[in-house]
Amino acid sequence: MRTLVIIPTYEERDALPRTLARTRAAVPGADILVVDDNSPDGTGELADAAAAADPRVNVLHRAGKEGLGRAYVAGFAWALGRDYDLVVEMDADGSHPPEQLPLLLERAALSDAPDLVLGSRWVPGGAVVNWPGRRQALSQGGNLYVRLALGVPVHDATGGYRVYRAATLRRLPLAEIQSQGYCFQVDMTWRVHRAGGHIVEMPITFVERAEGRSKMSRQIVLEALWRTTAWGLAHRGRQLRGLLTGRPSPR
Ligand code: GDD
Ligand code: MN
Repeated sequence: MRTLVIIPTYEERDALPRTLARTRAAVPGADILVVDDNSPDGTGELADAAAAADPRVNVLHRAGKEGLGRAYVAGFAWALGRDYDLVVEMDADGSHPPEQLPLLLERAALSDAPDLVLGSRWVPGGAVVNWPGRRQALSQGGNLYVRLALGVPVHDATGGYRVYRAATLRRLPLAEIQSQGYCFQVDMTWRVHRAGGHIVEMPITFVERAEGRSKMSRQIVLEALWRTTAWGLAHRGRQLRGLLTGRPSPR
């Protein structure tokens, strides 16, 4: 199945070369798209040099830093215009070991054709390495909140190591997505779930980056909080109306 690995970058010049090399070695038949938001550290130029040397590496330059979500939506549009079958999300900093991608792709290619294979830190076999306790607590607490608010039956809705079926992405109203930060991952999980999609979680090991710095911020956490709350209130409201009117609401 034709596969594209989308790697969003902002100031990843130190980590990107190794992640590109590891990904090309792990899944040599896959193409790569680096989506760079005009990184001031030269990440975009470095990606261009990699693309000049390797036809499987592509680069999408964007005017400025607009958040992980917008970068992925642009990457999805690029993928859907080029007939890929599977579209992968992967961080540039090595946190998502490329060596684990073949397993996720194998699972995506099975006959039950999952709409989304989610690399999950919080299922049996999943793990995190070198991640500060407060980030672990934020992730586990955030995922518990998502499950309570939205009833999405997954344990790592915020995770960013995923394989989407391109046909599933094609059916989603991607242009409507407002999420900018990491709640984009919750947004997409929620949309696939509500569209009746088949989501499979597979354990991965998340290894905190060794180079560069995380772009996580208070603003990103606050956006995730208010958006998840708004989605949750709308969802539970639909459920209540369904109960009162006897017409059960969709998922
Ligand atoms: N193009 C672009 N624009 N890329 C971005 C931006 C942006 O505004 N912000 C972050 N990125 C890229 C980073 O360069 C990296 O490749 C990836 O998105 C993840 O960013 P990190 O800053 O390394 O994220 P993290 O390690 O703190 O957070 C991890 O956990 C989150 C919550 O579970 C990541 O895996 C996130 O994807 C995940 O949602
Ligand atoms: Mn990271």
